[in-house]
Amino acid sequence: MSSQKRIEKVGIVGGGNMGSGIAQKIATEGWPIVLVDTDAGIERAQSLLETSITEGVERRIYSPESAQALRERIECTTDTTRLAGCDLVIEAIFENKEAKSNLFARLSEVCPSDTIFATNTSSFPVASLAQAATHPDRVVGLHFFYHPAKNRLVEVIPGKSTSDETVDRVWRFIEAVGKTPIHCLDHPGFVVNRYFVPWLNEACRMLEDGMDIASIEAGAKKGLGTAFGPFDLMNMTGIPIALHAQTTLFDELGPMYRPCQRLAEQVAAGTDWVVEGDIDAEQVALAEKRSTAVVFLVALQVLEEKVGTPEDIDIGARVGLRWPLGPFERMNRVGMPEVRSRVEEYTARHDVFIPQILLNQGDTPFALQQVHSNLENGVSTITINRPDALNALSPSLVAELERLFDDAAADPAVEGIVIRGAGKAFVAGADLKFFKDNLDRNNVEDIVEFTARGQALFQRIDDCPKRVVMLLDGLSLGGGSELALCGDIIIATDRGTLGFPETGLGIYPGLGGTQRAARRCGIPVAQWLVLSGQVIDAKTAESLALVDQVVSREDADDAARRAALTGLDLPPNPGSPLRTWAETWFAEDRLEAWLDGTLASHDDAKITKLAKKIGFKAPLASRIATELVAFSQDHSISEGIAEELRRLPEVFQTRDAAEGITSVLERRRPSFQGA
Ligand code: COA
Repeated sequence: MSSQKRIEKVGIVGGGNMGSGIAQKIATEGWPIVLVDTDAGIERAQSLLETSITEGVERRIYSPESAQALRERIECTTDTTRLAGCDLVIEAIFENKEAKSNLFARLSEVCPSDTIFATNTSSFPVASLAQAATHPDRVVGLHFFYHPAKNRLVEVIPGKSTSDETVDRVWRFIEAVGKTPIHCLDHPGFVVNRYFVPWLNEACRMLEDGMDIASIEAGAKKGLGTAFGPFDLMNMTGIPIALHAQTTLFDELGPMYRPCQRLAEQVAAGTDWVVEGDIDAEQVALAEKRSTAVVFLVALQVLEEKVGTPEDIDIGARVGLRWPLGPFERMNRVGMPEVRSRVEEYTARHDVFIPQILLNQGDTPFALQQVHSNLENGVSTITINRPDALNALSPSLVAELERLFDDAAADPAVEGIVIRGAGKAFVAGADLKFFKDNLDRNNVEDIVEFTARGQALFQRIDDCPKRVVMLLDGLSLGGGSELALCGDIIIATDRGTLGFPETGLGIYPGLGGTQRAARRCGIPVAQWLVLSGQVIDAKTAESLALVDQVVSREDADDAARRAALTGLDLPPNPGSPLRTWAETWFAEDRLEAWLDGTLASHDDAKITKLAKKIGFKAPLASRIATELVAFSQDHSISEGIAEELRRLPEVFQTRDAAEGITSVLERRRPSFQGA
């Protein structure tokens, strides 16, 4: 919101593993940091930072120059008064309630009254720590996950006094630094630890019950599809941490959460679990049931207590724990009768109630929302909320978008519509995993059907008599850019981007992109975009008339809502040198030279470089893409889209399509054969 103060400088107190990792991540995204600790703490933080940054340079995450700039953005000091200039201070000191409360009291003296204080605690209620601050409304929980420079999940926990504005400001900030926030109530364990830690504890209980460790490990992994089992994970992250976390849950939530004696014994012994051993199939099956039962039960309790939504609970598991499915998706996969039977067996053993929500659910799977909408003052804001996959368009997501968009279009209370994405992306394209799964099964038909359905929805958005505003606050690629182009108005923030990487994946934009891009910015610019796969920033897109207005992140929601109600009154696009350049170099008579590689030995080094880049794309896909863009000249939009669909099997049946899509998912360069 425009009245909100931007978070421009961040303080972090405590330079241990968490504090230094949080500092590294936020500084990597460009924010200046003041990191405060004792002399010994600062020395340790500097060493942790240096190790992690050097590793980043070795793995080419940072160039030597960006690593140096990153180091310079982090001021390490023992002087708390240096936090006076920070808009957000995150405490990441050791888990001691008194020390944390004293710190908030001290920060209240040092910092201006509008500074937000966040606690990274996993053990104490946010509300109880907030009491020590002069402005408890500006205290919030931000629970990062290990390793905070790499793990994207952040639980955002308002205490009972935390203001909505505080939550809104930190939420935007967390998204701006490329993290995935989820909302949690201020309850013990918040969302993720609440079910994750009992999963570890249950493994120890099975051991105590006489089962074999290797069979438990195998069953637990199988149950949730995890790469590591509970014992391996405890060995990696520290067995005492598991005991401490389970004890905290037990203290607050009662006997069901009692730490297993076997776990306490292992901590006392000070040795790792020895996970190897024989595997017994019957025990594996039992371990699978017991380990899923505890996760299902706790996830249902979390939902019943309104600590988190099913979507947030699932995002927490996928992003924070790297589980392939969240607990609710897993329950849907297992089937409700079987879920009930596992949970009933578990609740009987522990003498606790079956959550009413499970009983009410019957045999119906949980409806999990990936898109939600909110109607406010005549504007329906539709948010695509699949941030862990950068809002990629899967068939189920498109079906939800369809329903919410059609509802908004038909609702007389809705005057205008805004479509936006949650997290750091608008939409990163069609879901490549869906494409790959179908290509692996030689099933191009379902890809064609998905595309036809997407095209039809996009056409309805384009034709909608109500004003539709696309808000690009993050990257938009492929299908995301094609969706954006259906809006009457496209507003972008400074982190908005637009691009068509498809020819580099062995395919072409098939959701109307070849037709609508040309209509907005002219055929030559469209040819340049689809052939080069160049991703352009918001300002460049604005200069090419692909974006109508660029606004700050703080103003974005207001600007989009306003535009949805009243439209935009902008002067005609004056044209740009880039457009003129594209009109020269991507004119019809030069296209063949780009496609056959002639321009790769041109005198102009810039042209040579671009020609080589185009030469790395899939040749057949590039050729069809240029033909489709050219087709837009003499054909209506519906004819153009029909032509995109008609040629789809041709491109998806190539080996290059399979290679291109697989290469992106495997994060490697593709090698195209031209067939
Ligand atoms: N389809 C399916 N999943 C996608 C996706 C897409 N189009 N784009 C991103 N994702 C997933 C990633 O696979 C990753 O999942 P994982 O955490 O399970 O590995 C997650 O979203 C986060 O993306 P990540 O790659 O870790 O983020 P990044 O910031 O490092 O890179 C991109 C961002 C956009 C450069 C990279 O994700 C990418 O190239 N995606 C493909 C974009 C594309 O080609 N779109 C056109 C499709 S037609």
